[in-house]
Amino acid sequence: MTRVNRIVKIVYILSKYRLDDFLQAAPLSGPLRYVLMLSPWRLLPEPVLSRGERLRLALEELGPIFIKFGQMLSTRRDLLSDDIADELRHLQDRVPPFSGEQSTLIIEKALGQNINTLFTEFDVTPLASASVAQVHSAKLHSGEEVVIKVIRPGINVTIGQDLQLLFTLARLLEKYWADGRRLRPVDLVSDYKKTIFNELDLQIEAGNTSQLRRNFQDSSLLYIPLVYWDYTRRNVLVMERIHGIPVADIAALKKQNTDMKKLAERGVEIFFTQIFRDSFFHADMHPGNIFVSKVNPAEPQYIAIDCGIVGSLRPEDKNYLARILLAFFKRNYRHVAALHIESGWVPENTPIAEFETAIRSVCEPIFEKPLKDISFGQVLLRLFQTARQFNMEIQPQLVLLQKTLLNVEGLGRQIWRNG
Ligand SMILES: Nc1ncnc2c1ncn2[C@@H]1O[C@H](COP(=O)(O)OP(=O)(O)O)[C@@H](O)[C@H]1O
Ligand SMILES: [Mg+2]
Repeated sequence: MTRVNRIVKIVYILSKYRLDDFLQAAPLSGPLRYVLMLSPWRLLPEPVLSRGERLRLALEELGPIFIKFGQMLSTRRDLLSDDIADELRHLQDRVPPFSGEQSTLIIEKALGQNINTLFTEFDVTPLASASVAQVHSAKLHSGEEVVIKVIRPGINVTIGQDLQLLFTLARLLEKYWADGRRLRPVDLVSDYKKTIFNELDLQIEAGNTSQLRRNFQDSSLLYIPLVYWDYTRRNVLVMERIHGIPVADIAALKKQNTDMKKLAERGVEIFFTQIFRDSFFHADMHPGNIFVSKVNPAEPQYIAIDCGIVGSLRPEDKNYLARILLAFFKRNYRHVAALHIESGWVPENTPIAEFETAIRSVCEPIFEKPLKDISFGQVLLRLFQTARQFNMEIQPQLVLLQKTLLNVEGLGRQIWRNG
């Protein structure tokens, strides 16, 4: 697609869904303004759907790479207002599965052997299918049950094109949109590009899986499936098949008498162990990737899959993070502010008194709630939102941590309430 075509497509989508609404709040300048003003779709009736819904529909029309981008954005509550974040959470990718025959060919080519030589059983109907990969079940000749994750054919090309479109849009917004400087769309797209290219390389996911498995080797809290490295390539990953209960299936968990309180506590314990012991955490903790072992419901063990996205913290950041949270709980906001400066998270010349006041005003209401209802994720989110006003360059790893924390806590609370 040429640059002109890309811009035409962007303008078409922007106007069709009347996304110029967003731009009114923070106006456009330069050529974009006139293009939108003159576009014929503006003659259509006033939109009835909310702006969040229209944004969601536009992304769905643009396809899987945009959908994933929107899903990622939906977790950036430090950037987006709640109505938009909530709507983007409902983005669905409806990509049809590719055929089992295609999977077979990809696997045979990657591993250089006939499918029957590789496996005694291979189910051509996928267990699950998503925009980037799909998963088949199979059995090794040695008898082990496995799953095979296969990257969707041709996805590289699609991603390349769609990223260009995203970058074009981001650059235009950054240049001509009043909110563009604050939101830094080009950086957002760059981060996304990294994540998505990591997801395309299953050796990275396999490496993360092995590392996490080793970190929890002797743990009764968390189980990570074994990777079969001999059968793993860039676009094919073979790992042990697990048979847990999806963590969102509360009914099934209760039916086997799972100790829900323990389950909730263990979730949080696992998370903090990953952060503070290992500095290496699974950062894609949405319910679809988490299962609970059926083995001992009184001592429930988690099983995590899909380790494509992990985060790691530098030792000094880990240290600051712990100290900031402590200072927060002592309501020592001056110290919270000082630590942000000392760590280099905000510039050295930040006016500390003002920063302290801003932190106090967002943190104080949190203490209205009983301690058990205070969310660390929320606390971090508020702190980052405040720090952003003071030009904090929030490191991607910290954002990842804060997002994961919100997920883990949300999940924990849901389980706890059912206990
Ligand atoms: N090791 C496994 N054992 C059993 N089922 C699995 C395993 N790995 C993946 N699955 C199934 O396939 C689905 C998609 O796998 P996942 O790794 O989460 O892919 P995606 O990156 O597309 O989310 C999972 O939600 C789960 O139902
Ligand atoms: Mg998944």
